[in-house]
Amino acid sequence: MSLFEQIPAVPADGAFAMIEAFKADPSEKKVNLSPGIYRDEDANTWVLPSVKKARSILESNPNLNHDISPQLGHPDLVSVAREITFADTLATRTIVSMQTIAGTGANNTIARLISDILHPKHIWLSNPSWENHPKIWAHVDAGIEQRLYPYYDEETSTLDIEGMVATLRQHAVKGDAIVLQACAHNPTGMDPSRALWEAIAQVCEEKGLFPIFDSA
Ligand SMILES: Cc1ncc(COP(=O)(O)O)c(C=O)c1O
Repeated sequence: MSLFEQIPAVPADGAFAMIEAFKADPSEKKVNLSPGIYRDEDANTWVLPSVKKARSILESNPNLNHDISPQLGHPDLVSVAREITFADTLATRTIVSMQTIAGTGANNTIARLISDILHPKHIWLSNPSWENHPKIWAHVDAGIEQRLYPYYDEETSTLDIEGMVATLRQHAVKGDAIVLQACAHNPTGMDPSRALWEAIAQVCEEKGLFPIFDSA
C-alpha cells in the first residue's frame, strides 16, 4: 500500500469547479461571471496594459538576472507596492512590508503570525466571505475559534452595518482578530462607504480587535 493512499480527498474549490462546469456547458449563450478576470467585448481575457508593458521590458532586457530574492521579497517590488498602497500615510507611519505568494499566501502568512504572536480567542470573518478564509484559519490554527459577523443583508441587498457592529460589540473579546476585505468584497461585491469604515474602525478600537485587511 502506498503512503499516499492515506491522503484524504478534498472537495473541489467552488470557484474552480464553476470554471470547469462552465467549460463543459454546451450553451451558446453562456456567460461566466464567477472569476475576477477582466474580459473584452468578445469575452476574451483583457490583459492590463501595465502587464503588457512589464512583459515587454522583461523581454527586451536580456541582462536582467533571476537571482533568488531576499527573505522579505524583491525590494523594488515591495517598496513600490507599499507606495501605491499607503501613499501619503507612509511619511507618518511605521509600515513593514513583505512579498508573499499571491493573496492566498498573504492570508496564510498573517494567520500564522497572529496565531504565533497574538493567540486570539476568535477570528471574525464576514458572513459570507471568500471560501478560503475559514479553510486557511482552520488549517493554520484550529484552536482559534471562527466566528462570523453579519455583513450582507440578502433581502435588501445592503450592507448590514447595524448587525455587524452589534454582533462585534456583544460577542467579540479583547484581542480577537477580524478579517476585513478592503475592497471588492468577495463574494458580495458590497463595500463599506467611508462613513461605514469609520463605524467599523470605532468598534474595532472600542473592543480592542486586531484588524486584518485583505485587499485582493
Ligand atoms: C478576498 C480574497 N482574498 C484572497 C484571494 C486570493 O488571491 P490569490 O488568487 O492572489 O491567491 C482572493 C481571490 O479570489 C479573494 O477574493
